[in-house]
Amino acid sequence: LLVFMLRRRRKAGEPPLENGWIPLLGLAYQFSKDPLKFLISQQEKHGDIFTIYLAGRYITFIMDPTQFQYVIRHGKKLDFHEFSNEMASRTFNYPRLSEARFPQLSDNMHKIYKIMQGKPLDKLTDSMMINLQHVFKWKFSQATDWKTEKMYQFCCSIMFEASFMTLYGKDPVADGRKVISEMREKFTKFDAKFPYLVINIPIALLGDTKNIRKELINFFMPKKMDKWLDLADVIQARKDILEQYDVLRDYDKAAHHFAFLWASVGNTIPATFWALYYLVRHPEALAAVRDEIDHLLQSTGQKKGPDYGLHITREQLDSLVLLGSAINESLRLCSASMNIRVVQEDFLLELEDDQSVSLRKGDFVALYPPTLHKDPEVFEDPEEYKYDRFVEDGKEKTVFFKKGKKLKAYLMPFGSGSTICPGRFFAVNEIKQFLAVLLTYVDMELISHKPIGQDNSRSGLGILLPDSDAYFRFKLRKFDD
Ligand code: HEM
Repeated sequence: LLVFMLRRRRKAGEPPLENGWIPLLGLAYQFSKDPLKFLISQQEKHGDIFTIYLAGRYITFIMDPTQFQYVIRHGKKLDFHEFSNEMASRTFNYPRLSEARFPQLSDNMHKIYKIMQGKPLDKLTDSMMINLQHVFKWKFSQATDWKTEKMYQFCCSIMFEASFMTLYGKDPVADGRKVISEMREKFTKFDAKFPYLVINIPIALLGDTKNIRKELINFFMPKKMDKWLDLADVIQARKDILEQYDVLRDYDKAAHHFAFLWASVGNTIPATFWALYYLVRHPEALAAVRDEIDHLLQSTGQKKGPDYGLHITREQLDSLVLLGSAINESLRLCSASMNIRVVQEDFLLELEDDQSVSLRKGDFVALYPPTLHKDPEVFEDPEEYKYDRFVEDGKEKTVFFKKGKKLKAYLMPFGSGSTICPGRFFAVNEIKQFLAVLLTYVDMELISHKPIGQDNSRSGLGILLPDSDAYFRFKLRKFDD
């Protein structure tokens, strides 16, 4: 009875409120089972804005994508950093960036992200292309006849190794391939427990995760990294900044590098899997995308064959609109990154058409992009994979409508506003490069025809993982000379 009496009541001007019946948990169980279905059922009941009590937090969901921009642009009163700082420091085991003993650390770290965008991205892109082909080379050497592999494992081993080498360079004395493959195994184990760490399950309850995390962090100790060659500029710049803070222990600096590693491959690997899986499942899409790549290689006079290195510049990657569309389409279907903001003070959030809503300090406001990505009014037949959905008149299609209004944001796998993923251009380039090399060199087909589903346990956290792996086979294409 006491719990019932202490439940929050809705005040005038506030959105409709659902407390749920289970003390402390609220509606967490219903939400986690199938977030999209649950949110749509709440939308049908309450309209486009409502507040739900979920595991100790009141979260106001904004469901109408024409209103997203009003949340996104309120950077001050709706802040993200407080939440992400706390979550990242707990998950990756470093002190919070916002502590007074690290003046400007957060700002300094953010300033260097521009090294991953625009012109400076050329260098990263070129390096990734060389590393990818290096990693692919031994895979292809085994593929003179059909070779069968599990697709997720395949994507994971190639993308992990190539991205790692591109960002962190190499240790001149260690056996690079062996070290990276041990890292990958540990990383995969840590990553499997990542969703539990984020929701604050004590690490002591997660088996060996604490030790694995420590081993992964130790790998990045400054004295070891000092010896590595060819660090990417962004990693070198991060390292230089961290070195300026004597109050950080070596272990803390290493933990920051580990967090960046997670950010750089944790979502890119499953995103690469889905991009490849949908293409191989839709042979007409695969043929069209391969045609576009072949055409580019022809027009740039590049010979194909296992012994020729491909060179595709960042601008040329940008020109591959069908490939870009196929990747966007798979991101639309597999991304579930919740955009969370913490309300900094009681205030009235003004929305379009003279609507407004009262928000309370300490509550969360959330945008859940799958509600947009699966909206039939924005994307016709939203459950269907249409590889050319994001192409119009031979160019990238960027105009999508809801309620007759042009949407400012129609695809949100990378978050939004001031906290949007700084690695997004590099991520899309990496996936393009992976597919360009693979499609150029091998023929592929799925062996298992049962569709692969999505594992919902990462809903809200990023790209969903497949619920099982898909067997596929590949063989070197026939080349003229
Ligand atoms: C942050 C998605 C690849 C580096 C984020 C966020 C999302 C995201 C949703 C949080 C943004 C927010 O909530 O507003 C993705 C996806 C990727 C990807 C879907 C791949 C498909 C990458 C890559 C890198 C990277 C390749 C680096 C090489 C980062 C960093 C942050 C971040 C450093 C934290 C930014 C901060 O400190 O505010 N990413 N990301 N990401 N991402 Fe990515």
